[in-house]
Amino acid sequence: MPQAYVFTEYGGPETQEFRDVDMPTPGPGELLVDVRAAGVNPADWKIRQGYLREVVALDPPAVIGSEVAGVVRAVGKDVDSFSVGDEVLGGVAPGSGGYAEYALVTAEQAAKKPTQVSYTDAAALPVAAATAYDGVHQLDLQPGQVLLVNGIGGGVGVAAAQIARHLGLTVLGTASPAKAELVESLGAVHVAYGPGVADRVRQLLPDGVDAILDLVGGESLQAVGALARDGSKVVSAADPGAAADFGGGAVQRAYSGEVLAAVAQLVADGKLDPHVEDVVPFDRAGEALAAVESGHSRGKVVISVP
Ligand SMILES: NC(=O)c1ccc[n+]([C@@H]2O[C@H](COP(=O)([O-])OP(=O)(O)OC[C@H]3O[C@@H](n4cnc5c(N)ncnc54)[C@H](OP(=O)(O)O)[C@@H]3O)[C@@H](O)[C@H]2O)c1
Repeated sequence: MPQAYVFTEYGGPETQEFRDVDMPTPGPGELLVDVRAAGVNPADWKIRQGYLREVVALDPPAVIGSEVAGVVRAVGKDVDSFSVGDEVLGGVAPGSGGYAEYALVTAEQAAKKPTQVSYTDAAALPVAAATAYDGVHQLDLQPGQVLLVNGIGGGVGVAAAQIARHLGLTVLGTASPAKAELVESLGAVHVAYGPGVADRVRQLLPDGVDAILDLVGGESLQAVGALARDGSKVVSAADPGAAADFGGGAVQRAYSGEVLAAVAQLVADGKLDPHVEDVVPFDRAGEALAAVESGHSRGKVVISVP
């Protein structure tokens, strides 16, 4: 039987364990994927914790993880754009999970993996990089305008910085001092977060910024939100309510195979590096999730599956 890393009930990391599970069967519109790599995201522990129960309804034990790259082993009914043997990346189907030897992927949220993109890079794209793509495009900025990415040093932030730079935007990003070099390597200006962060931005840009893509929320967004000249251009993937306080709202996710294909092509063309900074073997999946759960991981963490 294939192995999967599950949470047995809603709660903390103590609810996580490896289990032998039945081979998943693809339903209509689904792909059975032989997983080669699985991306790790903050949503994974938030789902385990039960914080997202109203949007992601699960009946534990449930396999952890929401994005994978691998090889299609079977296709469900009504799937005509993928075949057995295709190398793909995608978001997992409802009720399925990515930290597993086999996962179900929603065909409409999948794309073929360009051959020059590694499985580990591909697995980092369906959630983080696609969210970055959606958020940056939603802001609809013109070349030369200024975007502040709040929380630029994580999975979504590093992708957002590069996508925005590719569109000709000037990018500033808040991160801890330890990530200054990483941020500058993305072509963005590093601003240390913490007390005085808004003053530090105003020293560089007295009139503030054109838009904010927030990836942290709460007090962190409150500290910088007023820097946006147009409050409707404050969007958050982490805390839409806090963005709404400034007149903005949530990053609207497309969850589309087209967006995923576009993002994968940026990687294939060398225009986007998802910054997979840590590839963790499957048998240490718990450590991979703990690194992201710390809230201070660097770029993306990906689990490699044998
Ligand atoms: N709605 C969606 O579809 C969607 C999709 C993807 C992600 N998200 C959400 O978006 C958020 C970011 O996701 P992610 O994958 O990028 O997370 P991540 O990889 O865990 O990165 C989070 C980053 O935030 C930084 N950070 C922590 N506290 C900060 C602060 N006060 N100010 C500035 N930066 C701070 C951390 O780095 P340092 O502290 O070391 O600088 C870390 O690099 C999460 O809340 C996630 O759940 C939502």
